[in-house]
Amino acid sequence: MWRRLDQWLSNLGYCSRREARGWMDDERITINGQLADDPGERCASTALRVDDEPLDHPDGLLLLMNKPLGRVCSHEAREGPNVYDLLPARWRRRNPQVTTIGRLDKDTSGLLLLTDQSALVHRLTSPKHKVAKIYRATLNRDLPAGLGELFASGTLLLEDETTPCAPAELRVLGPREAELTLTEGRFHQVRRMFASQGCEVVTLDRVRFGHLELGDLALGTWRDLPLDTFST
Ligand code: URA
Repeated sequence: MWRRLDQWLSNLGYCSRREARGWMDDERITINGQLADDPGERCASTALRVDDEPLDHPDGLLLLMNKPLGRVCSHEAREGPNVYDLLPARWRRRNPQVTTIGRLDKDTSGLLLLTDQSALVHRLTSPKHKVAKIYRATLNRDLPAGLGELFASGTLLLEDETTPCAPAELRVLGPREAELTLTEGRFHQVRRMFASQGCEVVTLDRVRFGHLELGDLALGTWRDLPLDTFST
């Protein structure tokens, strides 16, 4: 894809379009090895270098983060510390903006995907595509008998909703601990499903998204994924 030089720089979060002129005057920008002097010059991302480095993820970003507790997935500053603050400042200035693929609550930890590819957000959050997400929950009381059958039945109707939850798989790990596999992502769904049966979720951690797992990724850190990770 070809774009104006100042557009590449501003869309990838280096500087504003107005500042691009100054970056060129400071001899920080080259096109095909030659110092650039026209912010309107069109070029491919591969031709452009900043401070003699290739552009940072010019084709898009897909990240897998281990979300820590206490951070929201909203961009609204008034909602408190967010997951975007954990990313490099340049990525936080990108346009299109980096957003989460679905959300985890402030009090939920675990596997969170972030991207600037809106098509990927739509595909992976649409219930139509039935991407499995696995949550590990601990509860404030013993799991009631028959919970697995109820969650699997596709008949559980949550408060204020008119369509029942899609069948979900419950794997019991202990008297107060279980893994729940969901293929949809309703608001606070795991907490509300357990709450509907009188159980409060005490801790919640997402351990899997589609075929992806966290591995040994430390809390609050992320790793880069290829953009075609979900293309098969
Ligand atoms: N379900 C919830 O209740 N909370 C989350 O963060 C994710 C799924």
